[in-house]
Amino acid sequence: MNIRAQANTRSSLYNGNKLKLGLFAANCSSGRAATKVPERWRATWDDNLELAQMADAAGLDFLLPIARWKGYRGETNFHGSVLEPTLWAAGLLAHTKQITIFSTIHAPLFHPVVAAKQFATADLIGRGRMAMNVVCGWNQDEFDMFGIENREHSQRYAYGKEWLQVIRRLWESEGEFDFDGKFIKLKGLISNPKPYLGSRPLIMNAGASPAGQDFALEQSDILFNLLVTPEQGAKAVAAARARANELNRQDIKIFTAGYYVCRPTRKEALDYHRYYVEENGDLDAYDHLLDLQFPNPEARNLHGADALRMRHIGGNGSYPMIGSPDDIAEELKMISDIGYDGMAASFVNYAEEFPYFRDEVLPRLERLGLRTKL
Ligand SMILES: Cc1cc2nc3c(=O)[nH]c(=O)nc-3n(C[C@H](O)[C@H](O)[C@H](O)COP(=O)(O)O)c2cc1C
Repeated sequence: MNIRAQANTRSSLYNGNKLKLGLFAANCSSGRAATKVPERWRATWDDNLELAQMADAAGLDFLLPIARWKGYRGETNFHGSVLEPTLWAAGLLAHTKQITIFSTIHAPLFHPVVAAKQFATADLIGRGRMAMNVVCGWNQDEFDMFGIENREHSQRYAYGKEWLQVIRRLWESEGEFDFDGKFIKLKGLISNPKPYLGSRPLIMNAGASPAGQDFALEQSDILFNLLVTPEQGAKAVAAARARANELNRQDIKIFTAGYYVCRPTRKEALDYHRYYVEENGDLDAYDHLLDLQFPNPEARNLHGADALRMRHIGGNGSYPMIGSPDDIAEELKMISDIGYDGMAASFVNYAEEFPYFRDEVLPRLERLGLRTKL
């Protein structure tokens, strides 16, 4: 059975929407905004259930959680409360109808036999709507809680490759098999039940380095890459597609991440952005996050420059989409035009802000030909 061809027919990520839209990080307290404003996202289960059902009914394509095990301190302890992504996904799959739901999973923290079975189970709960964002880890602070040392960078992806190979074989193999890799050596492997209808969960990866991008291009269905400016994004997409061609992966989808501040006028949106980022940013949490992410001072200065600092507080370093519904629709058109297939984005308070986006931005995207009507 050609499992990739089967995967291409599954669920909403292969529907007619030219630009797939998803919500990012709703399982984490404060979502992607390191802000002290009182309306910041609490990420309770009830919040998540309400949001997932709204997104599902509105025809959004996917939900993507963050796997984070320890908060970034500061007054708000940004990401201090995080619903475990695989259980979160399984719970939401049981309460939704069409939307694809990812879990984000750290390959070094979960045994592949456990992960294969968790994802197959969730895929059955969602009747083929479970998906996997596999991450190889960067945050030693949280790895310390597991007593695990992060491998040297390229080795992280070499390990991830073996980890995924084991999982895919567990999903596919009818009989027992042994796995004799460089890192993983296991005997008599078998896992049942299989994922939904002989298919498998879609796989995404967000590696940014050459090793990470090659891993994503070789091993996954969806590559995530960072959009900083339209010019840089267009180049990044072109480079990823060229590399995908070399690897004979023309079928790969390329997604990126951003955040929305959508208000009736551009001025209102900019005012709100100033309020939650500049006047109420949780600078201590932001500084701690940067210390962890960029221990090298040169990289840190690069990412800590003022404009990027605002972007980090506003949406965890992702692409800002701030303005009226027309402005946001134009931004999303630009993102589609430069070659992205999908956008995972956040709001400060997802459940409060999503209905306005649904009512005002989604119809504009339909008129622009980026989305089909439900
Ligand atoms: C959209 C997106 C989602 C990510 N989700 C997580 C996550 O949930 N947990 C995590 O530890 N890292 C996450 N990462 C970080 C990546 O896995 C990766 O470590 C980072 O992009 C650096 O890439 P590199 O390892 O190739 O240098 C995410 C990155 C992106 C762009």
